[in-house]
Amino acid sequence: MDLAIQISLTVNGVAVSRRVEPRQSLVDFLRYGLELTGSHVGCEHGVCGACTVRVDGAIARGCLMLAVQCDGCRVETIEGVAGTGEVFDLQQAFAQENALQCGFCTPGMLLTAQDLLARKPAASAQEIREALSGNYCRCTGYHAIVEAVRKTAEARGRA
Ligand code: FES
Ligand code: FES
Repeated sequence: MDLAIQISLTVNGVAVSRRVEPRQSLVDFLRYGLELTGSHVGCEHGVCGACTVRVDGAIARGCLMLAVQCDGCRVETIEGVAGTGEVFDLQQAFAQENALQCGFCTPGMLLTAQDLLARKPAASAQEIREALSGNYCRCTGYHAIVEAVRKTAEARGRA
């Protein structure tokens, strides 16, 4: 029996219409259905932040949402957000501060940091740490990531 459900949404500004299994997560739909592999899958239960995407402008965990829940929504992934240049300065700061090693956590870190700086442009180091506390990095020890976000906030404040 075919239980697939038709959904229509926009992903990175492009209209998408697909039949999906009701149990498929949003991140699996993005990765396997649309080949947008920048959203990573770590814990698969909402803890690590590797699967972070934006849904209707708010960051969300792609492993905790079903694809069918996004019917009619505007979904943005790191591919789309990086493609517009929105996080170019953050990406540069991450590179300059050595804020990534394997890069597995980086898409989620960038989207979460961008969300914070949009809400709190002058976020302190402590506020940055708190905002990123739901995004795990197994490589860098976090200090360089916080520095990259803090320096981006400073630079945006001067611009
Ligand atoms: S894979 Fe979604 S939070 Fe870890
Ligand atoms: S750079 Fe490897 S997990 Fe963060």
